[in-house]
Amino acid sequence: MQQKLKELLEKRQEAIRGGGTERVEKQHEKGKLTARERIDLLLDDGTFEEIGMFVEHRTIEFDMQDQQYLGDGVVTGYGNIERRLVYVFAQDFTVFGGSLSETHAEKICKIMDLAMQNGAPVIGLNDSGGARIQEGVNSLGGYADIFYRNTLASGVIPQLSAIMGPCAGGAVYSPALTDFIVMTDHTSYMFVTGPNVVKTVTMEEVSSDDLGGAYTHARKSGISHLVAQNDKECVVMLRKLLSYLPQNCEELPQRLPYTLTDELRPKLDHLLPDSSSQAYDVKLIIDEIVDASSFFEIQAEHADNIVIGFARIAGRSIGVVANQPNSLAGVLDVNSSKKAARFVRFCDSFNVPLLVLVDVPGFLPGTDQEWNAIIAHGAKLLYAFCEATVPRISLILRKAYGGAYDVMNSKHIGADMNYAWPSAEIAVMGAKGASEIIFKKEISAADDQAAMLKEKESIYAEKFAHPYKAAARGFVDEVIIPSQSRKKLIKAFAMLENKVRKLPRKKHGNIPL
Ligand code: HXC
Repeated sequence: MQQKLKELLEKRQEAIRGGGTERVEKQHEKGKLTARERIDLLLDDGTFEEIGMFVEHRTIEFDMQDQQYLGDGVVTGYGNIERRLVYVFAQDFTVFGGSLSETHAEKICKIMDLAMQNGAPVIGLNDSGGARIQEGVNSLGGYADIFYRNTLASGVIPQLSAIMGPCAGGAVYSPALTDFIVMTDHTSYMFVTGPNVVKTVTMEEVSSDDLGGAYTHARKSGISHLVAQNDKECVVMLRKLLSYLPQNCEELPQRLPYTLTDELRPKLDHLLPDSSSQAYDVKLIIDEIVDASSFFEIQAEHADNIVIGFARIAGRSIGVVANQPNSLAGVLDVNSSKKAARFVRFCDSFNVPLLVLVDVPGFLPGTDQEWNAIIAHGAKLLYAFCEATVPRISLILRKAYGGAYDVMNSKHIGADMNYAWPSAEIAVMGAKGASEIIFKKEISAADDQAAMLKEKESIYAEKFAHPYKAAARGFVDEVIIPSQSRKKLIKAFAMLENKVRKLPRKKHGNIPL
């Protein structure tokens, strides 16, 4: 027995060595941790249980049978984050550049199947040169097996991806099918075709970082939901993200213990500028409404005319969607509609109630927007809200104009409670635009057209630039004092806790993708 035990321990040591000291050092020199180091940091101490440590690839092409590394370039298993079960895989760049072989894919599929069957999140730490070139189609099949599982798991268990090294070619589609992507700055990149192919095909010269680095995807494409400065920050972000989520679609997010001491927030009575055309930062309002330091913004760099993120209100997890007047006056456009729509759908999939803060002058006009299908993308947001069955509360801070009023979680599309501040302006359009249309004749006939426009504007504003017409119709449930917003919302979310709303039976809807 002693000899057998020794053999087992030696084999374990061999697996733990990965691609060997030299390659591990190279990994460290690049500022990257190894797969096992990452898992150790990600999970609660001592909770990791590895599965498939001794798996070997089956390739014999290019004398690959003589190059075996136990585990085949991916460390898989399960463990805990804040005492809750998660499944994890981490690609080991020190073994064939973390490339994906058939067996490497089988290991990932095995933990994905376990995660689905046991209702717990899957976290993938990606660091890979892509398809194992020596394997050909076997590797491609392995990718497709993973994509298939990503899709089946979507909406069943949370799936988080960290990109901590290369992620190129078709390999990008597994993370893209998951719920959130965190990228590490400078050490990761994602693209379907790399700089060399881009140069050949389009003559563009671009670096890997500019083409698909963390900030490129955070700002331009919105593919990256969060950017971490290094591997350590990346795992901290993954842990934090999970804290807002339930284990699966059948559960509610965990509620943290919370003692109510600070429901009234006097600062909220003074945060809006005097002029309704002046910008302000809606994040200051979010911070005053939610539990202290609980707001965790997602996709902060992308389409910043809308703010999305998780927060807590009296310990309850919520998803926040807020127009941002500081950027493009908070209009809805193609990117902000897509960004918010996907977030709303995520929250609804996993029973995270929604708080929507409204200050929106409308949709962004222009050929660019129309030709890039603002009609379809705006419809995505509309569809996502209409279909969401989680508790949904809106608070209209200031403008709620035109179609954007309807889209931003209005009562008509199923919001449960709609509050407005006295500063709310709910109408078809702003006073100036409206007056120019409906008083066109009077204005053009006037000697002093500017004065006439001003006069008509104030008549229109008096009639519509307030929340009371909407409140009279019951489209707004209550006009509230801003400093009481937090108190009202805490009570309303508690009141809606057991909400049940069923959608009509169907195979699935046809969201305007
Ligand atoms: C097998 C690979 C590999 C791969 C890297 N390696 N990529 N082995 N298959 N795809 C090996 C290298 O041979 C090397 O082995 C080790 O990993 C580290 O690679 P280096 O090149 O030394 O590292 P670095 O300089 O950091 O460059 C990393 C890299 C580069 C940019 C990822 O290796 C690279 O360009 N690899 C090929 C990428 C690629 O074209 N993949 C296929 C994409 S198409 P040694 O023994 O020296 O340590 C694809 C299709 C998926 O993935 C389709 C899914 C539907």
